[in-house]
Amino acid sequence: MKTRQYLLLTVLAASMAASGPVLAGSGTDPGDFNAFYAPSYKLPDPATMNASATRGKELIHSTYKYLGAESTQRAANGKPYVGNRLSCANCHLDDGTRPNASPWVVGTYKYAAPGAFSARENIKRDLPARINGCFERSLAGEALPTGSPAMQDIVAYFGFLSTGLQAGYTYKQVPGQEFPKLPLLTTAANPQRGATIYKDSCQSCHQEDGQGVWRDDEKRYRYPALWGANSFGLMAGMGRLATAVTLVNGNMPYDKVNSLDPSTRMSPQDAWDVTAYILSKDRPFDARFVNDWTGTSPTGVPNWFSKAPDAAYDYTMPRVDGLGLASDDPRFAPMFPLAQHKYGPFQPITDALAKAKAYWGY
Ligand code: HEC
Ligand code: HEC
Repeated sequence: MKTRQYLLLTVLAASMAASGPVLAGSGTDPGDFNAFYAPSYKLPDPATMNASATRGKELIHSTYKYLGAESTQRAANGKPYVGNRLSCANCHLDDGTRPNASPWVVGTYKYAAPGAFSARENIKRDLPARINGCFERSLAGEALPTGSPAMQDIVAYFGFLSTGLQAGYTYKQVPGQEFPKLPLLTTAANPQRGATIYKDSCQSCHQEDGQGVWRDDEKRYRYPALWGANSFGLMAGMGRLATAVTLVNGNMPYDKVNSLDPSTRMSPQDAWDVTAYILSKDRPFDARFVNDWTGTSPTGVPNWFSKAPDAAYDYTMPRVDGLGLASDDPRFAPMFPLAQHKYGPFQPITDALAKAKAYWGY
């Protein structure tokens, strides 16, 4: 018995070594993040966290509590920094440490100054700018001033996490970053079918009305709201089906899916349909962002060619001119119906944008 077990382990170890460092498959301990990240990354010892990073961790864990409507903090325009009731860690699970839940473990490196170009916002985003993207859109709120104590503390927490990158590795080698991609559907996602999945797999926690379970003593959700005024905005990454489905598919339902183990996930069709159901509901709309993707990149390429096909808000791209050619002029009619931007299929939109880019010579 002992010998057989030993043999099995040797075989497993050999096959894992052959397939690279990403651990996946049944048997992955849902709590052992370090085993998943090894050998490129190891979560740093909490005892090495300084006071600023400790405050930052608290801020991202209970963001509404410290920066929402019930706090004393206000942006220059008088509005709270958190416009809904969410906290960062409601989406970036385990305070931004869980693999496949858009962890922040190497965020300091990924968004090192001058930052990465965002066609949506037409700016290079360094770490504070990237964080503010989620304040304004995921939290339906206001950008924190870069020099504010709260932003500095959050950046310090990111800095603490990034100390776990192991010598000899680059940040790109760390597995489990972002929410895991899944194949696009060739048909539209079906929110009606998704309603049934919601009832069976989500409602017990997020509730029939999608408002979740609020803990007033903690000023934090036990189960966060999935739609309505207290949820993420339409112009957030989460407001777009092809992005939102990656969070859901990789991590929900919370009690059944092990984020570290793809074999525990729902079927792709179920994930698309249930996410379509959530996105079929009302959520914060923000007039500040209707001009997303209308700038021109530093290299001179108009950003509308990169507009996300699932950004289902004006101005959807491409438009189509009188000669049937793709255009970015919002006075022309949209080439695809709004429903297709919302529920797919997305590939025809991506293809049309690529074709337009080639036609116009970019
Ligand atoms: C409603 C869910 C949600 C909330 C709440 C949220 N985010 Fe995000 N965040 C996302 C999604 C989705 C992405 C990535 C996809 C996108 O936006 O295109 C992301 C991306 C990021 C990234 C980039 C990660 C990478 O690997 O490139 C950072 C950094 C980040 N968020 C920080 C924050 C911070 C800090 C907060 C709180 C102020 C926050 N987020 C709140 C959903 C959320
Ligand atoms: C056992 C309870 C439970 C079930 C069932 C569950 N969730 Fe969640 N969900 C959570 C918890 C808890 C969080 C937030 C985690 C945190 O704050 O640490 C969450 C977060 C989320 C978020 C990100 C935060 C937000 O408000 O947007 C989405 C989206 C989500 N769940 C969708 C779903 C979907 C879709 C299903 C069904 C397929 C589902 N959940 C099933 C407990 C659950």
